Amino acid sequence: MKNVILIGFMGTGKTSTGKMLASKLGCAFIDMDQKIEEEAGRRIPEIFAQQGEEHFRQLERELVERLSARRNAVISTGGGTVKNPANVAAFKKSGIIICLSASVDAVLERTKRHGTRPVLDQADQGDRRKAVESLMEERKTLYQQADFTIDTSDLSPLQVVENIVRYLKTRGVLHA
Ligand code: S3P
Repeated sequence: MKNVILIGFMGTGKTSTGKMLASKLGCAFIDMDQKIEEEAGRRIPEIFAQQGEEHFRQLERELVERLSARRNAVISTGGGTVKNPANVAAFKKSGIIICLSASVDAVLERTKRHGTRPVLDQADQGDRRKAVESLMEERKTLYQQADFTIDTSDLSPLQVVENIVRYLKTRGVLHA
């Protein structure tokens, strides 16, 4: 099976959906943020604080190359992985890209815990809504590079998984 790659803004459900999708498909699940943390031996906010975003993006870039060499995996990316066009190109070659989207309200609700998402915390300036809105707008065209997009705002993870499975069947990635 081609890889199934989940992209999308923070708080759109990439990790929870990815885990459930992989178990439904009986294939490997790789969460990029988690893998980077395991390999670096530190949490993402610490990587950002100690070595800077650029270093994190480099770790992300190297991991994308490794993951693109394999198949049969559901891969959940970080919200900013698609900022590097080389990452998108590598994913396009190795699999199907699904974008999970969500409303600003849903993202705010799902990312309200501060301290875990340095990009949002840095952009925040006391107005979290504004930070989410402008970052979403800035990245909109990047997420539009996906093969298929699902708005997860009002769906349970199971419903999102069902939508993805249906789409993968239409693409012949999975057999009906
Ligand atoms: C980021 C999103 C995070 C993580 C890092 C940077 C971003 O992943 O990769 O904090 O730039 O949007 P999630 O989308 O899983 O929160």
